[in-house]
Amino acid sequence: MAQLATKSEPITAKSYQHFEAAPQTGSFGALIKNIQVADAIENDELFADLYQAWLDYQVLFFRDQELSPGQHLKLGERFGEIQKPGYAPNLEGFEGVWVQEYPDLYDGIVADLDWHSDSSFREQPTRGSLLYALDVPVSGGDTVWSDMCAAYEDLAPPWKTMVDGLSAIHDNMTRNLFRALSRLSVEEFAKVREYLPPNEHPVVCTHPESGRKYLFVSELMTRDIAGMNDRESRAVLDFLFAHQTRPEYQCRFNWEPNSLVLWDNFSTLHRGIFDFGQSHRLMHRVSFNTPWKPA
Ligand SMILES: [Fe+2]
Repeated sequence: MAQLATKSEPITAKSYQHFEAAPQTGSFGALIKNIQVADAIENDELFADLYQAWLDYQVLFFRDQELSPGQHLKLGERFGEIQKPGYAPNLEGFEGVWVQEYPDLYDGIVADLDWHSDSSFREQPTRGSLLYALDVPVSGGDTVWSDMCAAYEDLAPPWKTMVDGLSAIHDNMTRNLFRALSRLSVEEFAKVREYLPPNEHPVVCTHPESGRKYLFVSELMTRDIAGMNDRESRAVLDFLFAHQTRPEYQCRFNWEPNSLVLWDNFSTLHRGIFDFGQSHRLMHRVSFNTPWKPA
């Protein structure tokens, strides 16, 4: 008989010195109440608590945060090196604060509507991100995360054995190739390819801090399994893409103005839900890197 129960352990509520963490699903994600995250810029103890909670829950949610663009950058600097501006528009005077504004962004290449881990196509993918809401639709416009530790842990042993030994090609053009070709000149396209070349990463990585294994593929970024022909590669990836985004592993967040989310970009995937038509949605994102490469 098929085994229906998931094998990964459900998370529990936890108390830290400065706050309580309220789990938002049975898998991952926690709401942190009654603190201002900006205080962690100066307060080492609060920062240590936040860092531990981030490792414990992978995604942390905060409401009613006062966070200026300058504070947003300083907070990101506590976690790692701020990701340099690339192809995304940055806030004037605040290099490293990426502005996501809809409906304006619909005119470009909307990349957030497929599951992904930010910049997984880079040699050193984004370690984590701090996404802050300034203006949100009356309803809709949620973001969903998916827990790649639980998705790996729930795989049956024969699948684990197979994927443990695989690596995959991550390519920024996996889903955007034709949109990019239709919008960019030959020279621009060549420049993008040179600036953002594909990279190969293990399909299963071990988290550098928690030590947990996690699946590191996604439908937006993962093009092929290395060493497989296209039919074999599709069969493996289509299974993993369907498996890793099952509702059991998901955590969905409804934004309010001044909500802030901090996520572990190694061990989770995310995607936007574009159900808010032409409504205004303005977000600031600060992403940070560490020297670690997926392994
Ligand atoms: Fe993203």
